[in-house]
Amino acid sequence: MRIDKILSNLGYGSRKEVKKLLKSGGLTVNGQVEKDGKAQADPYADTIILNGEEIHYREFIYLLMNKPPGVISATEDKREETVVDLLSMEDAVFEPFPVGRLDKDTEGLLLLTNDGQLSHQLLSPKKHVPKTYFAVIEGEVTEKDIDAFKQGVTLDDGYVTKPGHLKILKSGISSDIELTITEGKFHQVKRMFESVGKRVVYLQRISMGPLKLDEELELGEYRELTEEELDQLKNYQVTDVNS
Ligand code: URA
Repeated sequence: MRIDKILSNLGYGSRKEVKKLLKSGGLTVNGQVEKDGKAQADPYADTIILNGEEIHYREFIYLLMNKPPGVISATEDKREETVVDLLSMEDAVFEPFPVGRLDKDTEGLLLLTNDGQLSHQLLSPKKHVPKTYFAVIEGEVTEKDIDAFKQGVTLDDGYVTKPGHLKILKSGISSDIELTITEGKFHQVKRMFESVGKRVVYLQRISMGPLKLDEELELGEYRELTEEELDQLKNYQVTDVNS
């Protein structure tokens, strides 16, 4: 790959700006100074050092974010702050986008990537990737709700959901629950509870397929997936959440 392309792909500026950067003599490929942007290098095999720092080239980026409330799951918006606005320049240059959406007030696990194929696989309705949410519910969640969700409930637009697995952690005037669903309809968790006459007052996604929310991440923080997490995600085979 041309050296100027490698650098501009990584966000070091336009080809023109990169040309200037190279002229200064700060770039070496396997120890040799390279000033010509048209020269070729293998970004995966060669050691490329720019101003003393080694460059780590990759095509795809996979970020695990603990989404805070108050930001929207989009790449850009005229009025609202987006999850992409929370990324450092270094990561934003890869142009990652959120895999699926969480509501503005929902917190928790959000995957961002520029790998369209993986995103497509994870979101495909055929794949039934389970997503687990922790929620605080106004009202007493009961065994009856567990059964209703197991059967599938009818949402306000007449859609009958696929079975959901509801676990009650604490039941009372306010209840704590975990709900696992395999679909991603608009406001699905909130609407499932509405269908049984209850209201979600706090919602957090805690897992998606094999990925778990990293407790070390503060709201708004993110990190790259580990190699193990990425392998698990790519090789993920769905098992029945209701078994
Ligand atoms: N279900 C909801 O109602 N909201 C979300 O953000 C995710 C699932």
